[in-house]
Amino acid sequence: TIEQRVDSVMKLMTLTEKIGQLNQYSGREVTGPASDRKNYLLNDIKNGMVGSMLNVKGVKDTREIQAIALQSRLKIPLLFSLDVIHGYKTVFPIPLAESASWDLSIIRRSAEVAAEESAASGIHWTFAPMVDIARDPRWGRVMEGAGEDTYLGSQIAKARVLGFQGEKLGALDRIMACAKHFAAYGASMAGRDYNPVDLSKQQLHEIYLPPFKAAADAGVATFMNSFNTLNGIPATGNAYLQRDILKGKWNYKGFVVSDWGSIGEMIPWGFAKNLSEASEKAIVAGSDMDMESEAYKKELEKLVKSGKVEEKYIDEAVKRILYKKFELGLFDNPYRFSDEKREQKVMSDPKYKAVALAAAQKSIVLLKNNNNTLPLNKSIKNLALIGPLVNAKRDQAGNWTVYIDTANMVSVHEGVKQKIKGAKLTYAQGTTVKDTLTNGFAEAVNAARNADAVVMVLGETWDFSGEAKSRSDISLPGKQEELFKAVKATGKPVIVVLMAGRPLVFNAIAAQADAVIYAWFLGDQGGNAIADVLFGDYNPSGKLPISFPKNVGQIPIFYSHYNTGRPVTKAGDIRYKSAYIDVSNDPQYAFGHGLSYTTFSYSNLKLSSNAINQKENVKVSFTLTNTGKVEGEEVAQLYIQDTFASVVRPVKELKDFTKVKLKPGESKEISFELSPEKLAFYHEEKGWITEAGEFKVMVGTASNDIKLKSSFELK
Ligand code: IFM
Repeated sequence: TIEQRVDSVMKLMTLTEKIGQLNQYSGREVTGPASDRKNYLLNDIKNGMVGSMLNVKGVKDTREIQAIALQSRLKIPLLFSLDVIHGYKTVFPIPLAESASWDLSIIRRSAEVAAEESAASGIHWTFAPMVDIARDPRWGRVMEGAGEDTYLGSQIAKARVLGFQGEKLGALDRIMACAKHFAAYGASMAGRDYNPVDLSKQQLHEIYLPPFKAAADAGVATFMNSFNTLNGIPATGNAYLQRDILKGKWNYKGFVVSDWGSIGEMIPWGFAKNLSEASEKAIVAGSDMDMESEAYKKELEKLVKSGKVEEKYIDEAVKRILYKKFELGLFDNPYRFSDEKREQKVMSDPKYKAVALAAAQKSIVLLKNNNNTLPLNKSIKNLALIGPLVNAKRDQAGNWTVYIDTANMVSVHEGVKQKIKGAKLTYAQGTTVKDTLTNGFAEAVNAARNADAVVMVLGETWDFSGEAKSRSDISLPGKQEELFKAVKATGKPVIVVLMAGRPLVFNAIAAQADAVIYAWFLGDQGGNAIADVLFGDYNPSGKLPISFPKNVGQIPIFYSHYNTGRPVTKAGDIRYKSAYIDVSNDPQYAFGHGLSYTTFSYSNLKLSSNAINQKENVKVSFTLTNTGKVEGEEVAQLYIQDTFASVVRPVKELKDFTKVKLKPGESKEISFELSPEKLAFYHEEKGWITEAGEFKVMVGTASNDIKLKSSFELK
């Protein structure tokens, strides 16, 4: 068995060699020109003092470095890891965008493709998926997750883990996944990266932990802890999270890697006086592998020898890591993932393009479409393309990419040109994203005046979101909204395509544009997908996985809020109500919102029972009909409300959804199961419980557009 093989290796290992397995270096330098750093890294690898490398990729380089590891006394192979976040060679939509598809099969498929390409390129392990629930669009890493909702986030976590890893670890075209960042990193105070997190136990267990549990249940090979504190304790030194919950209650068998330098960062946090204390706290709390702090390498041996840290902690961590190396088959063949011919074949395989296009199409959300402005007619004579992102390529890739090959990327300009070859296409940049230049306005206005319709492509550049990219102001950068107003003043129909790594605030556009397409960062095929939507070759089907605020002051804003004792019950009547005097409580666009070129009707809601006991399910069924003129996909959403409980409950909680394709006039019976698990909530003292009482059932097309309602009693 693998256990026996791990034990037999452990028996041969010195304490120093064991600690070496817990050490992970980043090492672009290892294959670079001669340098002190290169010598240092290579020396440690040769001496068996490194268990894993990150940021080395490609068969040639990984092979070369693996060969050095195999010169060490015990010849234990290295694990090669990388942030393969939304594609490797083929760039897919950013994870938040893909989450807007609510399409678990395309999400899984895109992770599979990323795994196929990276595994062929010598990579064993990705630091994805990020499963942090994020309700603050100021946070730059909101782009990397699945948005604000725990249920949707958990389903997506599972799909991504299965995509990267497959059902069983060890396939040659799959890699290990990593559920990160454990835990609650998405709740960083004020949306500022690396900031503290203070959460009630109930919020932690109910909102933030379930996607991690879903990843663990799907077999995720590794976890990464996080930079934040949780109620005063850094996650990296947090035994409650790593020992009690993850390795204890959840009985998790994989290993935990620290985030970059996060063991050492416990010193500036004021949690450890020096690297020695930081190492002690981290290993005892359950952090198995040290990414880039060099804390374990420098301190653990002394700590064990002085009796401060029991060797059992090191043994446990090493066993977990070796187990994964065996599961991947690396002890049998350390070069399993390093086949140059396979790399060449996979990396140039044209079949992935179609997957990237489908993922991009499905990720687009049509926010607004007044008077059926869209789709545009392909026989349009004169179209103006205006804005700083019309020709975007690098920007459409978004942050956290490994390869940037603009030759593979399609801009909106190129995509549109393909659709309307006979039309006159005028382009004006108007302004840039980052500057406040207005000297291009006149040219843009002129282009609009001479056109039948205008498509504006505005937004953020790729580097406005990602790690350490928090913004305090999430409005459209620069003078882009002014440019929009100037163009709109021409009276021509104006369609705005917005690209960004987060929800933006764009009130003038939301109010005055004829149509608004949210295009996030869609990856290689972005321009083609957007053109497909503009001209009706693809009927948009995305729904927002996160609420869009009207202004920054509304943050945090999410659909599953509490009612309060003084809710606003009549729009505008806010006297002594829980409200702002300067903006409504409603978001600009709600969670679950997204339009289509067709219409859907919901009817005939039935519950299998109006009173159930604590062990029964309720089946919720209804009919969905395409009542429009074109084929389309709808994401039908099931929400519940536990109306009275010993702990107040949200006004709505998503409990299921399905994405269905229907031809015009076609109907489908849809049914969801509400299991007792879905009715449970986390009680600070009692843990997960269900309580008797009334549950409301709501089925709709968005969290703020409920079409059918009923209720049942839990006895
Ligand atoms: O995987 C990432 C993590 O999400 C943030 N810090 C750096 C790591 C490795 O690149």
